[in-house]
Amino acid sequence: MNSGQQYGIGDSSFQAAGGELGIFQLVNNFFDRMQSDERFSTIWHMHPDDKDMSRDKLARFLCGWLGGPRLYNEKYGAIGIPRVHAHLAIETAERDQWLTCMSESVAEQAFADDFKTYLMEQLFVPAEAVRRRVAMSRESAE
Ligand code: HEM
Repeated sequence: MNSGQQYGIGDSSFQAAGGELGIFQLVNNFFDRMQSDERFSTIWHMHPDDKDMSRDKLARFLCGWLGGPRLYNEKYGAIGIPRVHAHLAIETAERDQWLTCMSESVAEQAFADDFKTYLMEQLFVPAEAVRRRVAMSRESAE
């Protein structure tokens, strides 16, 4: 169902995602799926052993990124998304594993359909920025 709402203004996206609780649920679904589905094993194994910390970091980041409270910064400090991924082996295939895993998790949430579409369009932007940053770091290391 569409909500007819405009997203990206104030905390409208944060609210549309069900606030802190909704975002933590999404991120838990995302990591559970990444762990259990072979299609996502490359990106699963890239993560450090402490997956609870990874869940906490991504969920807190998304709260602020969607216009809600800046929970990541409060706990972990400043962050640049491309920079924190620069050391990883992320090419198009890994970017798409991440986006597919996320999109299947988003699909299972009780979000309005137009928000699901909007959210995945928005997430493509930092995911692609990560891929480009990794490619750049590799070029300069050659
Ligand atoms: C392009 C595909 C992506 C892959 C394969 C990926 C994978 C990873 C991995 C493996 C880590 C752990 C890094 C480490 O501790 O060594 C990580 C951290 C993180 N990722 Fe991603 N990621 C992707 C895209 C994104 C996007 C689009 C976002 C945000 C919208 C994001 C948010 C984060 C955050 C907040 C952290 C924690 C950073 C920290 O504090 O250490 N990632 N990611």
